[in-house]
Amino acid sequence: MDELHPDLERMLISAQEIQNRVKELADQISNDFSSVPQLYLIGILKGAFIFLADLARQLRVPNLVDFMALSSYGKSTISGAVRILMDLREPIEGQHVMIVEDIVDTGNTLAYLHRVLKGRNPASLHSCVLVKKPRAGSQVKIDYLGFEIPDVWVVGYGLDYAEKHRTLPYIAVLRQDKKS
Ligand code: PRP
Repeated sequence: MDELHPDLERMLISAQEIQNRVKELADQISNDFSSVPQLYLIGILKGAFIFLADLARQLRVPNLVDFMALSSYGKSTISGAVRILMDLREPIEGQHVMIVEDIVDTGNTLAYLHRVLKGRNPASLHSCVLVKKPRAGSQVKIDYLGFEIPDVWVVGYGLDYAEKHRTLPYIAVLRQDKKS
């Protein structure tokens, strides 16, 4: 059992559960993409860097890794605009692309990414997301999902609160009094 950091209220997903699920996702993706020349993994910074590192090392298909950084505004609103802070290094035309995200909350970021990347004419476009909150609904397309979680503030395994707790090996709920 992982020992819980004092800022945290409760464990949501243990390190072992995460590792087991990441392996399952990697196996599923490896089977589904066994016939493509290579898979183009796009990690969305910062949160996805740990998930992407673990997932990529479990894949059994040739792959390459690139990153994008996005900033979102108005997370609590439906309109939440998204902006590219750092773009991919290379064009993705003709590539089999897999977006790798740590979390889908409102779904704005992933919906925006789908629109932008689709416009660059990849051979295929899929997404792999570690955790999804309920308010994203089903309007956003997630092809490979690790866990559905309740609408609580989670940290760990790439997820932060004010840049803290990203490197915890598990995912946990932040204590209410730590959010101010
Ligand atoms: C998180 C996460 C997604 C986005 C999802 O990033 O990594 O990119 O929020 O939220 P949405 O579904 O409501 O659009 P965040 O803005 O926290 O940046 P970070 O990854 O750099 O911490």
